[in-house]
Amino acid sequence: MEMTPALPDFSEWLRGDRLAAEEKIWLEGEHYEWNLVHVRKALAALGSRPKVLELGCGTGNMARSLVDEVEYLGVDKNPEALEMARAKSSAMFLEDDLRHFSATADLCYSFAVLKHFGLHEWDSLFAHVLSLAPNHVHQLQVTNGESFDDGVNWHSVWLNKTHLLDLISKYNFILNDCALAWSGAKGEEWVIQLQQAVQA
Ligand SMILES: C[S@@+](CC[C@H](N)C(=O)[O-])C[C@H]1O[C@@H](n2cnc3c(N)ncnc32)[C@H](O)[C@@H]1O
Repeated sequence: MEMTPALPDFSEWLRGDRLAAEEKIWLEGEHYEWNLVHVRKALAALGSRPKVLELGCGTGNMARSLVDEVEYLGVDKNPEALEMARAKSSAMFLEDDLRHFSATADLCYSFAVLKHFGLHEWDSLFAHVLSLAPNHVHQLQVTNGESFDDGVNWHSVWLNKTHLLDLISKYNFILNDCALAWSGAKGEEWVIQLQQAVQA
C-alpha cells in the first residue's frame, strides 16, 4: 500500500486565492444542491430537528439550506472558509480539526472531505468519524484496484471497495444506500449512507 504522509492537510492548502477559486466552482456547479438530496434522504428517517454534524463544511453552502430544519453544527479547520460560511447563515460553525473533534449527533455527513486524508491515517480517521453518530452520509473515492493516494499538493485517496466495505462492517455499520456521483479513469466517487447495526 503506497503512503504519502508528508503532504499538507487540504484545509491548510485551501487558503486565499485558491479558496476564492474553489468557492466560485462550488457555487457555479451547484453541486451542494445534489449533495443535499442525499442528506435529505437520510434526514427523512429521523425525527424533527435532528442534530446534524457536517465535517469539512467549507464555506457553508449546505448549512444555509439546512439551518432552519435541523440543529446544525459545521466543523472545518479552515478559518477563511468559516468566515465565508458565517456570512451566509446563522448556522453554528466551529474551527477544529475533524481528526480530533468530538461531538454526538443524530446524523454526520461530509462531501469532498474524507478523500483528502492520507492512507496512513484513513482507517483510524474513519473509525473516529463513525463514532460521532449512528447515521452517516459521506462522499468517497473508490477503486477496484489497491487503495492509493494520488495527492500532489495534498492527499487524494482512492479506497479499494473491499477495504471500505470491510471497515464498515468492522465498525458495526450497515451500508444502507450507495449512489454513484461520477466515474473516471482512476475510479468512482460514491455517496454512501450508513446506519449503525442494531446490537443483538
Ligand atoms: C473540498 S472542500 C469541501 C467543502 C464542502 N464540504 C463542499 O462540499 O463544498 C474540503 C473541506 O474540508 C476541510 N478540511 C480539510 N482537512 C480538514 C481537517 N483536518 N479538519 C477539518 N476540516 C478539514 C477543508 O478546509 C475544506 O473546507
